Parts: sequence; C-alpha cells; structure tokens
Amino acid sequence: MAGDISQERPYDEIDLTTRAFWALSAAEREERFAVLRERRPISWQRPVRRPMFPHLPDPGYWAVVCYDDIVEVSRTPEVFGSGEGVQLQTVPPEFNEESQSFIAMDHPRHTKLRKLVSSAFTPRQVQRLEDRINANAATIVEDLAVLGSGTDFVAHCSGRLPAQTIADMIGIPEQERDQVVHHANATAQSGDPAFRAGRDPFEIILEAQTYFQNTAIAMAEQRRREPADDLMTRLAQAEVDGDRLTDLEIGAFFVLLSIAGNDTTRQTTSHTLKALTDFPEQRAWLMEDFEGRIGRAVEEFIRWASPVMTFRRTALADTELHGQKIAAGEKVVMFYPSGNRDPKVFADPGRFDLARDPNPHVGFGGGGPHFCLGAQVAKTQLRAIFRELLHRLPDIRAGEPDYLTGSAIFHGVKSMPCTFTAAGS
Ligand code: HEM
Repeated sequence: MAGDISQERPYDEIDLTTRAFWALSAAEREERFAVLRERRPISWQRPVRRPMFPHLPDPGYWAVVCYDDIVEVSRTPEVFGSGEGVQLQTVPPEFNEESQSFIAMDHPRHTKLRKLVSSAFTPRQVQRLEDRINANAATIVEDLAVLGSGTDFVAHCSGRLPAQTIADMIGIPEQERDQVVHHANATAQSGDPAFRAGRDPFEIILEAQTYFQNTAIAMAEQRRREPADDLMTRLAQAEVDGDRLTDLEIGAFFVLLSIAGNDTTRQTTSHTLKALTDFPEQRAWLMEDFEGRIGRAVEEFIRWASPVMTFRRTALADTELHGQKIAAGEKVVMFYPSGNRDPKVFADPGRFDLARDPNPHVGFGGGGPHFCLGAQVAKTQLRAIFRELLHRLPDIRAGEPDYLTGSAIFHGVKSMPCTFTAAGS
C-alpha cells in the first residue's frame, strides 16, 4: 500500500507542495528544480496541506523534474495513467467526472471522447479559424491603442483573444462570454489569497463548476433544437457506443475546453510581452524578419512561459523510473517548467533565445495521447497577437507583473501595465 510506504520514506527537503513554494518567482523555483534535477531527479514529496477532500488518504507523490523522465511518463500511458486525476491532490472520481472530462481518462474512454472534438482542431480547421483570429487580434490591439499607455495588458489584451477564440469554437452565446471567462479565471486563481479574499478555494471551484454545468446543459438543449457549425452542436449530437453523451459529460467537456482554452494562451501572451521588454535584442532580431522568424519564436515563447506547470499521473503497476521504484497506486507529478530548463536538452536554458532550434519543449506536454489538443490554435493566436502588437504599437513595453500565487498548475500573471508612445502602421 502506498500509504504504508510513505510512512517510512522521508519527504524531500526541497518541498514542492507548499503555497510558499508556488509563491516564489519562476527563477527562484528554477533554483530548486536545478538541485533536484542534478541530485534527486525523482523525489518524494509531501501531500497538499489543506486538500479539497481531506477524507481521502494522500501519502504524497513522486516529483519528476528531468526532461527525459517527463517524456517517458507522458508516453507510457499504460503504466502512468490519468484516470485518477491530473492534479497534485487526490480527488474522488465524481470530481473528475464533473470537471475534468477526457484529460483525466485512460484508453479506451479517453480515445473515444477526445475523438469527438479532435476534428475541430485539425490543421485544416485551424487554418479556417485563422482569418477570424487575425481579425480579432487586430481589433483587440486597436482597442488597446485607444485605451492608451498605462492600461492593464492582461485584462485588455492577453486575456481577450483566447476568450474570443474558444468562445467562437464552442459556440458560446455573446451574453455568456464574460461569465465563462470569469469562472475560468476564478478556477485558475482560486488558490491565490488576494483573489479569494478569505473565501474557501473549494467553494469558488464548486461555484464555477455549477455555472459551467448549467450553462453547458442549456446550450446543448438549444443546439439539439437548432444545430450550428460549432463544438457544442457536435457534443449535443455525438454518440459514443450508441449512447448520447450525458449532461454531466457535456458539462465536463465545457469546463475542460473553457479552462484549457483560456488560461494558457493568455498567460503565454503576458509572459512573452515581459520577456520581449526585458530582452530588447531578441525583439530586434524578431522584427528584422517577423514573418520568417515568428514560427520559431513562438516555440520559445511557450518554453519560456511554461504556463502549465504540473500534471499528474498515477502508476497503474509497480514500475521503475530513473532508477526509482514506484509502486502501483502512487502518484507521479511532472514539472514542465523544470523539463523546459533541463540543460541536458536546452543549451543555456536560462536564456530567452528566439532563434533556438531545435526547441523540443514540453510546454504542451511530453507527447503521448494527452498532448495538448489546442497546440495549433494556441500558436496561431500567439502569432496573430504579436504580429499586431509589435507592428501597431512598436515600442510597447510591459511594466511589473502581478503574478498569480498559490497555483501549482498555472504560471499566471493577474495584471501587468503596459506602456507605449507611438502607433505604427
Ligand atoms: C500556450 C497555450 C497552451 C499550453 C501551454 C497548453 C498546455 C497543455 C498541456 C501541458 C496539456 C497536457 C498534456 C499532457 O498531459 O500530456 C494540455 C492538454 C490539453 N489542452 Fe492545452 N495548452 C494550451 C492551449 C490550449 C488551447 C488554446 C486549447 C483549446 C482550444 C487547449 C486544449 C487542451 C485540451 C482539450 C487538452 C487535453 C488533451 C487530452 O487529455 O487528450 N489547450 N494542454
């Protein structure tokens, strides 16, 4: 039993679970990851102190910080399963069912449910979306220019394009869009003391889930009556093994897509503007041949930002990873920002280097069946927004970010002023 083992096994002295750890800067966290990568690539970590489900036994988890191990765990789903949940803490099956959808499932259910939506994410479909993404990016940057220097970049730029894109893809009605974004952000920020202002994080998450479930059910009913060319229609009409998706399943899809689609690209956009401000020579290099270089640069935006910091697997059998024995039932957590700074794979990993090539980052996961479904959509948005920003407002600069603290999942920026003086072509 995993619980017995942990009582004899000491926890690592570098504690990756505390709120204090997640309140450190990315650079400070990287100092700790570097020690672990070098000395204890697989470390045994304490469980979350104040879990959402305190009645569930939780002895702790194995932390995986090296690039090669993250890739191995991601690509061996028959040993490292997702079906028991993908977050650090232990959660009951009902929680996964209601809010996680296929990201927290294993084959064959994962394969079937992912397939229902994957046709909306093919390169051809994404190309079809591109004109709309480009037009939305132009409007967003135009609005930012009108608001003027000193505006909060997160609220008025980085958050807007992902919200519009995912809302268009799902088919969220105009009047619901702000609420969807509000609840997606609330879920991501629920651990942040400033955001929750004394409220229980679990209460915030449950409130958001209830909203997502109710909205998805109402939308699905409406689409059954009036089908449209969007993801919600596909879900409302879909059958798996001859059965319609249940309301709960449709609701969980909605939660997954709303959160995955909003809170990742938005963080990458904010971290990237900060990096382009801090490293002007990189920005100058990009602007010498924007169209020729942006494709490669976007990969470095994602490696640098590493907006998703952890995902978990659970060992489905006794196994061994990097020489460490892992027992069936034990949790294994991948730390993507650490994999993305692994010097065995990335030369000078602390350097923001837009010309980095190859750049096999694990920002979208380490490969395997759960690899980010929205990777192409995200990259299309990043190209579009920076094309507009850097041409329309050529001297735009980021001020000091107010970073999200208390989340082990999102490397977030809550707000960040931006300044600019000139409007370009
Ligand atoms: C820079 C932006 C993004 C980053 C860094 C990111 C990162 C990730 C990561 C790390 C995973 C888990 C991979 C794994 O477990 O192996 C994931 C899964 C997923 N992402 Fe993204 N994501 C981004 C944008 C998006 C967007 C825009 C969408 C939707 C439009 C999206 C939809 C999904 C979905 C549905 C999954 C679950 C896939 C599965 O379990 O089969 N993501 N993403």
